[in-house]
Amino acid sequence: MLVRLDKFLADSGEGTRSAVKQMIKQGRVHINGIPAERPDVKVDTDIDEICVDSRSLIYREYEYFMLNKPAGVISASNDKTQKTVLDLIDIPKRRDLFPVGRLDKDTEGLLIITNDGPLCNRLLAPGKHVPKTYFAKVRGNVTEKDVEVFRNGVDIGDEELTKEAELILLGREEDETGVYSLISLTITEGRYHQVKRMFLAVGKEVAYLKRISMGPLKLDDALSSGAWRRLTEDEISLLKQMGKQDSK
Ligand code: URA
Repeated sequence: MLVRLDKFLADSGEGTRSAVKQMIKQGRVHINGIPAERPDVKVDTDIDEICVDSRSLIYREYEYFMLNKPAGVISASNDKTQKTVLDLIDIPKRRDLFPVGRLDKDTEGLLIITNDGPLCNRLLAPGKHVPKTYFAKVRGNVTEKDVEVFRNGVDIGDEELTKEAELILLGREEDETGVYSLISLTITEGRYHQVKRMFLAVGKEVAYLKRISMGPLKLDDALSSGAWRRLTEDEISLLKQMGKQDSK
């Protein structure tokens, strides 16, 4: 693929377009061992070797990260006042990354971050129905009746009932603040505050929420809260396959 040298450098996390222009001027950038002279020169990402201060760079058109989102950060690319999920990716990084969908500020767990807009649009398209599984602690006793209601669709105040969802009762916990049900819930839509609103519709409150899978991707147990890693090639192709499947 042919790209401008300044785009190559900026996309590789070397800095803003103006910062990388400066690096080129300072003679810090080499193309196949020859000092680069102009930011607009086209380089071939498959053939040319681009080095900054003798460090060889690998160009990735698209990047994919898995983040174990902690509570307290927002699912946005940037924000003037609040910490965002992008602030947690603590490497020099390209500036066009964004989260695939949103988790509430107090929700934890699996969030995919990428700059692959077309794939993101396909995964989030209405009608795509990518399954998302959440673990939750719900105040009070979640019952078999709730399991049935969730299976048949819940009125959460939207025009349509929610689609069939799989609610599994995992256990109970009790502390000085009361009794909690531990559950797993798989939904195939992404409506605003959907899990919390589904429980509210059956008179219950979600006290803790964590996403543990999205389509074929499971949250990596090795990622502590706030930690991230790049997706493996296998995970990327699983996501792409999911994006290709026909929407219903
Ligand atoms: N449903 C919610 O209520 N909140 C989330 O963050 C995700 C799903």
